[in-house]
Amino acid sequence: MTGGIEHFFCLLYARRPSSTFFCIVAYYPCPPFVIASQLVGPNGTVIGVDMTDEQLAVARAHVDWHMQRYGYSKPNVTFLKGVIEDLLSVGIQDATVDVCVSNCVLNLSPNKPQVLSEIFRVLKPGGELYFSDVFCDRRLPAALKGDQEVLGECLGGALYIGTLRGREGGRE
Ligand SMILES: C[S@@+](CC[C@H](N)C(=O)[O-])C[C@H]1O[C@@H](n2cnc3c(N)ncnc32)[C@H](O)[C@@H]1O
Repeated sequence: MTGGIEHFFCLLYARRPSSTFFCIVAYYPCPPFVIASQLVGPNGTVIGVDMTDEQLAVARAHVDWHMQRYGYSKPNVTFLKGVIEDLLSVGIQDATVDVCVSNCVLNLSPNKPQVLSEIFRVLKPGGELYFSDVFCDRRLPAALKGDQEVLGECLGGALYIGTLRGREGGRE
């Protein structure tokens, strides 16, 4: 099962001036960042985290162009190098984020409970998490789970939908 980012941005029905968004993973100019940057406005903040220098370089290379397009005098997006399992190490403190957005990244983490724990740590009380991802309608064979190419295609680490729903066999 996969959901488009349109789903969670439909839920973000209104502009959120001056909010802090945390977008998991720094694909920029991917739609989550571009839309989040506009939703929070010039005085808001959008933070992205990615573990690769290559992806961060692509992300940072597009910032100025977008800021000019939006008419912002300074960037409201920032990209940090790190892993989403440990957001404190990139300086994201407890209860500082209004909205967390993930588009097809949770499946890539080998430690999903830790990622969710970090998300809930950084969200303010009443903060919101929106995600779309890939899920399986059956348990994957071990050979597929361990295949680096299948993992990289966002399939090997996909969670069994029954686990997400908390039934049909519980945890992975
Ligand atoms: C599928 S893409 C993300 C797609 C993006 N969110 C979008 O909307 O287009 C995968 C990215 O996740 C990053 N990544 C995977 N696991 C990560 C982790 N545990 N911590 C930080 N970045 C990770 C990779 O470096 C890669 O840039």
